[in-house]
Amino acid sequence: MDNEITSLAMEITERKSVVNWTLQTVSDEAWRLLLEAARQAPSSWNHQPARYILLKEKNRMKQLCSAFHRTNKWAEKAAGFVVQAANPDDDDRVSGKDYYLYDCGLAMMSLVYQAQIMGISCRQMIGWDEKEVKNLLQVPESYRIVVITAFGYPSSSVFSTGMEAAKRRLTQQDKRYKPEHIAFWHTWGGESFENC
Ligand SMILES: Cc1cc2nc3c(=O)[nH]c(=O)nc-3n(C[C@H](O)[C@H](O)[C@H](O)COP(=O)(O)O)c2cc1C
Repeated sequence: MDNEITSLAMEITERKSVVNWTLQTVSDEAWRLLLEAARQAPSSWNHQPARYILLKEKNRMKQLCSAFHRTNKWAEKAAGFVVQAANPDDDDRVSGKDYYLYDCGLAMMSLVYQAQIMGISCRQMIGWDEKEVKNLLQVPESYRIVVITAFGYPSSSVFSTGMEAAKRRLTQQDKRYKPEHIAFWHTWGGESFENC
């Protein structure tokens, strides 16, 4: 086929959860596009369970950081936080599987790639105290906090990128299972998929 694409999209290969952000703020238009990317995501029966609390003021972000696990204190340097919340009853529950989590994940992934295209790097987090987060943000009882995404413009300084790369190596962040570990042809455990 003439027009066959033979490589991954640049946004996929370049997306990394780096946190060496600069002090650059994110414009209102960029915030709008990020939320729009999340809003356009698909969801089961178009239930659209995800809700968002957006934080860009330093004092509010700092306050929210008090509910973060100590290993997530780096988040203070972010230009913004997107707190994603959802009510499980707003989405399908099939054979004990809560699809609000899946749909929220799709929406956040859409936001993350829109950010990547705009040169913004995101780091999603689940290391926080949900009760504290809900209290601080006045989230109704029936909602769950699904994920908090911190983002900003990554620094290009040699020192900063070098430190970030060293940290990634240490925590093995680039490591992925081999294709044959995660995919099979036809049946579970059948002929392995190696052509990735
Ligand atoms: C649902 C989810 C929760 C995460 N929670 C945290 C977290 O609490 N703290 C943190 O530093 N990174 C967190 N991460 C970032 C992952 O560690 C990171 O995505 C993973 O190591 C792969 O690295 P990459 O995103 O740069 O490819 C989270 C990522 C996801 C998708």
